Amino acid sequence: MSDVLIYEVGPRDGLQNEKSIIPTDAKIALIDALSGAGFKKIEATSFVSPKWVPQLADAAEVMAGITRNPAVTYAALAPNIKGFERAVAAGVTEVAVFAAASEGFSHKNINCSVAESIERFKPLLQAASASNIAVRGYVSCVVECPYDGAVNPESVKDVAQQLIDLGCYEVSLGDTIGAGTPSSIQKMLDSVLQSIPACKLAGHFHDTGNQAIDNVFASLEMGLRTFDSAVGGLGGCPYAPGAKGNVATGELVDALEKSGWQTGIDLRQLSVAEQQIRALVTGHTNDQEAVQ
Ligand code: HMG
Ligand code: MG
Repeated sequence: MSDVLIYEVGPRDGLQNEKSIIPTDAKIALIDALSGAGFKKIEATSFVSPKWVPQLADAAEVMAGITRNPAVTYAALAPNIKGFERAVAAGVTEVAVFAAASEGFSHKNINCSVAESIERFKPLLQAASASNIAVRGYVSCVVECPYDGAVNPESVKDVAQQLIDLGCYEVSLGDTIGAGTPSSIQKMLDSVLQSIPACKLAGHFHDTGNQAIDNVFASLEMGLRTFDSAVGGLGGCPYAPGAKGNVATGELVDALEKSGWQTGIDLRQLSVAEQQIRALVTGHTNDQEAVQ
């Protein structure tokens, strides 16, 4: 039994911000390399509008091409019922809806208000429940928004609770632009934990301020046991200017295991995937301003 669940989001969050289109075969090979490393959950792609995220326009082809490891759940983002239907047709068994704790980011990222996004998710959650598909929820900008500035922890609690009420089994709390520190993350968690137990929460920390691993440890103290990370530390959101990569899976696993936490991840196998992703994004410094 693992003490900490690492939710690998590299094939989705790690690649969505890459400007040059990565061949579908390379994405499939990356996911297959990750499948053997001990992850229980891999976020493989997104069924979003290809106009909004051209990099992931091949979502169905990616899902069709991977060699499925029965021990792994391959998940994908779906912003609306259309995305959900595409995901199910492609054989996805877990989807993630994504909301924000700030209006500015919600409008830029999914072209609607936070309240409208929750309404949009309702038919998706109903359809998912009818077809036994698990739904994860994300809340972005849990500390700071690139458009609206500092975010009130009460807003995070409110949106996270709405996602749980809709039927999400877990809410992943996104520090989208990596502005969080252990103290601001704990302040935010203090608020969210008033209404949602730690076992239904995950941490999704981008590493812009080099605080992501410290933020994981601060969250562990508060009872969280699931963390998102991306192989090679890639990642960023095309609609969050300045956002750098997610916390790097290898570094996170290493730090956790050195502190006595079990992750079940095979670092040697993970390094194969790391080499693959580095080859794919050669020349990418992962510190460029994200495009808008
Ligand atoms: P919209 O333009 O308002 O959509 O975009 P619409 O409903 O008006 O439809 C416009 C067109 O898009 C139509 O096609 C639809 O059929 C099509 P047309 O008639 O023009 O040919 N369309 C779709 N096509 C394929 N799949 C779909 C889909 N939906 C509509 N699912 C929309 C609204 C939500 C679709 C758009 O804003 C979008 O796709 N946004 C996604 C942006 C995104 O993926 N951002 C990155 C992920 S979030 C993130 O990274 C944060 C996270 O990591 C956590 C953190 O770090 O905080 C999760
Ligand atoms: Mg992210």
